[in-house]
Amino acid sequence: NQLGDDHVPMDELLASPLHLTTESTLPLPEWLYGPAPARRNSTGLDLAVETMRAPLLDAYARTVVPAVPTFDASRANSALTVSATSYRQWSKTPVAERAAMLRRAADALQAELPRFCALLVKEAFKTWGDAIAEVREAVDFLRYYADEAERIMQPVALPGPTGESNELRLTARGPWVCISPWNFPLAIFMGQVAAALATGNTVLAKPAEQTPAIALEAVKLMHTAGVPADALQLLHGPGETVGAALVAAPGVAGVVFTGSTQVAKIIHRALAAKDGAIVPLIAETGGINAMLVDSSALPEQVADAVVQSAFRSAGQRCSALRLLCVHEGIADHVIEMIRGAAAELRGGDPSLLATDVGPVIDTEAFDNISRAAQKLGSQHKVLLAPDVPTSASANYIAPSAYEVDAIDSVKSEIFGPVLQIARWSGEPSAVIEHINTLGYGLTLGIQTRIDSRAAALAAQAHVGNIYVNRNIIGAVVGVQPFGGEGLSGTGPKAGGPHYLYRFCAEQTVTINT
Ligand code: SER
Repeated sequence: NQLGDDHVPMDELLASPLHLTTESTLPLPEWLYGPAPARRNSTGLDLAVETMRAPLLDAYARTVVPAVPTFDASRANSALTVSATSYRQWSKTPVAERAAMLRRAADALQAELPRFCALLVKEAFKTWGDAIAEVREAVDFLRYYADEAERIMQPVALPGPTGESNELRLTARGPWVCISPWNFPLAIFMGQVAAALATGNTVLAKPAEQTPAIALEAVKLMHTAGVPADALQLLHGPGETVGAALVAAPGVAGVVFTGSTQVAKIIHRALAAKDGAIVPLIAETGGINAMLVDSSALPEQVADAVVQSAFRSAGQRCSALRLLCVHEGIADHVIEMIRGAAAELRGGDPSLLATDVGPVIDTEAFDNISRAAQKLGSQHKVLLAPDVPTSASANYIAPSAYEVDAIDSVKSEIFGPVLQIARWSGEPSAVIEHINTLGYGLTLGIQTRIDSRAAALAAQAHVGNIYVNRNIIGAVVGVQPFGGEGLSGTGPKAGGPHYLYRFCAEQTVTINT
């Protein structure tokens, strides 16, 4: 039986609409998403990249990655004092003024898109397509949080007995420590900083040590847009020294962190051990993100979604696909199509416009991912070791895929272009149960033509972002609020309508009139 155990009756199939597109067709507002979502043309180049070919290459030729001095961790307490002093003014600045500054920064960033893209390619080894998408996402964060802060920070009058007025309002908390990762050195950095600033908090920003220059340019842009230098300080250096000293310093009102689960737990413990106030932590971490494919799924759509989700951005997204669970009835066909789609990718030098998969961030990542891939290759069947046409580039790792016997044999996240594939038969709900047992809960893909099944499986999954019949990466600000649960983070979701509340305290004022 070609369709296997979860064979779906044809009348059910016909009753459910086909989802033929793998890219969002939502009518995205232009102010939010920018004018041209990246699409591929016949030459394989993202249209956005092709359209901007000349300004991008020009910016690249002129871009020098500046050196950024490391902050002296022993001065963390002084930096907190500066932030706390600045907070007195900044928190009283009307929310409309703070929002206007963020919008000015968004306009400036949009105007300087080629320069920021060039920096992302040079310092973070992003492909041009990823760089353009990232600058757009940063612009979206700035505009979205500006709007959201204005929306939620209006006082709300509440009913009460005669002779009494009641008002609920949100207030800022104080200085926030923002610790951001190298994989989205502009978008996540800007998102964290913008959220804290929009709500009236001051910021001590500690970007990843691999990408200090992008953070520096982003901070300059915010200062030029009107954010006072003391309200947004950039403190560059290693997490173990600078990050740890900032988290431990007295007077920290909150910490927002994106990175590994392990480091999130270290921060959580450090905050819990501090004297004084209970300090909130927003952590967004990794995932063993899975995609469930049943026997009714469209193999072409699956292959495209898998290759984009597992291998684009060299697999260096917390949302990236790590584990493909494919029904045994169509597994061979789907794997063949994935091999075909992966063979179309061009890997290597990220500065070339046509490159689809660039190198990983540094030699440490290269060694870790290579070791993990080799181990998988020595223990499991190698399904994909494609002969990708490669231009010379240090730390480039060709995408690879391995067949594992069971879903629960996958224990940890490999943060690179490495995919594990497990076949399943029987009930798809049992697959979701296994995925839940992994303990992470960031992204999940479901590929099925049975709408009722997709809805039931989504409801069963303990996962923050679920994508049906498409790829599982590239959440859009304000459209797919992003963030997970369990080992994948604390919430609230970035780019969503509840995010800013966590940066605020609440105050109820009751007046006996
Ligand atoms: N927000 C990114 C995505 O959705 C990952 O950090 O791919």
